[in-house]
Amino acid sequence: MAEVAATKKSLWAKHAFFEKNSIWLVIGILIVISIGGLVEIVPLFYLKSTIEKVSGVRPWAPLELAGRNIYVREGCYNCHSQMIRPLRDEVERYGHYSLAAESMYDHPFQWGSKRTGPDLARVGGKYSDEWQRQHLADPRSVVPGSIMPGYPYLAQTPLATSEVAADMKTNAIVGVPYTDEMVENALADLRAQANPDADGVDAFQKRYPGAQVRDFDGNPRALTEADALIAYLQALGTMVDFKLYEDKANVR
Ligand code: HEC
Repeated sequence: MAEVAATKKSLWAKHAFFEKNSIWLVIGILIVISIGGLVEIVPLFYLKSTIEKVSGVRPWAPLELAGRNIYVREGCYNCHSQMIRPLRDEVERYGHYSLAAESMYDHPFQWGSKRTGPDLARVGGKYSDEWQRQHLADPRSVVPGSIMPGYPYLAQTPLATSEVAADMKTNAIVGVPYTDEMVENALADLRAQANPDADGVDAFQKRYPGAQVRDFDGNPRALTEADALIAYLQALGTMVDFKLYEDKANVR
């Protein structure tokens, strides 16, 4: 008994030192907190990625990437989010909740937080190209009550392609797995995606498995900004085949 009391007393004496010297108390607190902080932060330096890989997710094809830049330029994110939250009402309206992997190649990501219009994370394939063209040119021609502004000039503006390869290189620097071959073929791939009769379509689809190839703006004579933006919209949320995962869940 006496021994326990003595130990308690000496511990108390040590603690009293900190309680009586506020500077040492602060230093002690900092040391203890930084141990906790290091345990959380250090693994992030040697983990290559904290994002689980999901099959089907690929970098944007050059035409889609150009379309994505137009999406950012026009500020579509001011009214549209691209992240379906794991809540029942969202999943019933928009489909499977967004996975981290689905936006792992987006720089900058377009999750957004403002929903004046609906979430667009899975809008790909929801409408025809024709609908998208009409809607972009004049939203009220297809959705009478819409407050979305029209973007009729996109279908009339030739797509600027001079920076696509440089854009892909920049994305590669921040971790998007664009290969040298992809960068070299950027322009050919961009044109091939909008023209099913082009020579390079097979090679293009090998580089970007699952990418859709067609004349998106309905005008085969010109490669326009509408081609790029609609190619991007039609690809949104289409890379992951959730049936694969649902079937697995059912087997279990
Ligand atoms: C001022 C806010 C606003 C801006 C900016 C805006 N939208 Fe919209 N968008 C809406 C609203 C509201 C709707 C719902 C009514 C409709 O379908 O037109 C909508 C609907 C849509 C839809 C149909 C979604 C669905 O699931 O039915 C698409 C696709 C779309 N917008 C794309 C775009 C693109 C691309 C841009 C940028 C070029 C853009 N929007 C800019 C407000 C906006």
